[in-house]
Amino acid sequence: MSEEAVSNKPCLVTLEEGKRYAWCTCKLSKEQPFCDGSHKGSDKRPMVFKAERTEDVLLCACKATKIGPFCDGSHNNLEDEYVEASPEEIESMKDSVLVDQDAGKAVLDGGAYVMTPKNEKDTVAENLRYQPVIAEEDGATKLSLHRLLISPGTTQWLQYKGVDTVLYFVSGAGKVDIAGRTFDVDMEAGIYVKPGEAFRIETSEEMVVYATACPMLTDLTVSDDHDTSFDETQMERYVAFDEATANVMANRFYQELVDTKVGSMEVTQFIGMIPLSRAAMHRHLYEEAIVILTGYGRMWTGTKWAEVDTGDVLFLPHRQGHSLECTDEGGMKLMGVFYPSGSPAINY
Ligand code: FES
Repeated sequence: MSEEAVSNKPCLVTLEEGKRYAWCTCKLSKEQPFCDGSHKGSDKRPMVFKAERTEDVLLCACKATKIGPFCDGSHNNLEDEYVEASPEEIESMKDSVLVDQDAGKAVLDGGAYVMTPKNEKDTVAENLRYQPVIAEEDGATKLSLHRLLISPGTTQWLQYKGVDTVLYFVSGAGKVDIAGRTFDVDMEAGIYVKPGEAFRIETSEEMVVYATACPMLTDLTVSDDHDTSFDETQMERYVAFDEATANVMANRFYQELVDTKVGSMEVTQFIGMIPLSRAAMHRHLYEEAIVILTGYGRMWTGTKWAEVDTGDVLFLPHRQGHSLECTDEGGMKLMGVFYPSGSPAINY
């Protein structure tokens, strides 16, 4: 097999705990991603590793990864352009069915959906209005999402008991009190709340906030008091979007907000910017929620597609094939949050 014939996309494989594997580093093997001896005569050697647990993983096929044998998303930067839908792929989906929103929701292949939150579905708790937009009844298994609308004042204490909580501030500014420690917060930023901590939000303007609970689906509790204290083993919690430090991925970029640097080991939150384009159909090993912050376009999932617009929420079950198309000349900005944690650049 010539080097050119090898796909740059990572290989999905099931590793068995304790078993040793030889990952090809030369790209010549016909048994990708594993070594078949084709490196003989070169200065390349396979990387031998032992699987720590039985699990499905994505092993690098492009050989540009910096975390071999695992994919780190480097294949996305090997060409000048992010891999976009080919004319053949677009032709193959010409019979896809447009799904219009029914009661505010368009359900696509595999339970993926696009929905537009409707204010009349809100629960009211003093200056807070909130509603679930991704929950167990929607097919979620690991992460839930609430939209919070906050009017001037201070909310009651809020908590997803016993799980990680990740907040994203869509608009407005204020303060977040996490179990007694206060953070100034502004729009286009995220904050991490550890399991066991309650939080409340103070603002002098209208705020829109999205709250994710992970990795167990649990209700948002609203209470007049809290019986927990701030976990001082993790002082840094707040991350603001900074385009200057974003990761470039061909003609698009992304920045992780809440991730391991603020102590979030289970869930990753990011902001992504995509230009006028249609991504090639791809999948992730993680379950994902997306909020469209600016711009508009279409979500394709194989046999179905739906319009997406600013303010919409998208749910993607793990391994569901999808392609997000931006049809806005100004580009599209989105917030994504997914479980298990990792890099949003990794797909197959
Ligand atoms: S065949 Fe590529 S490293 Fe052995």
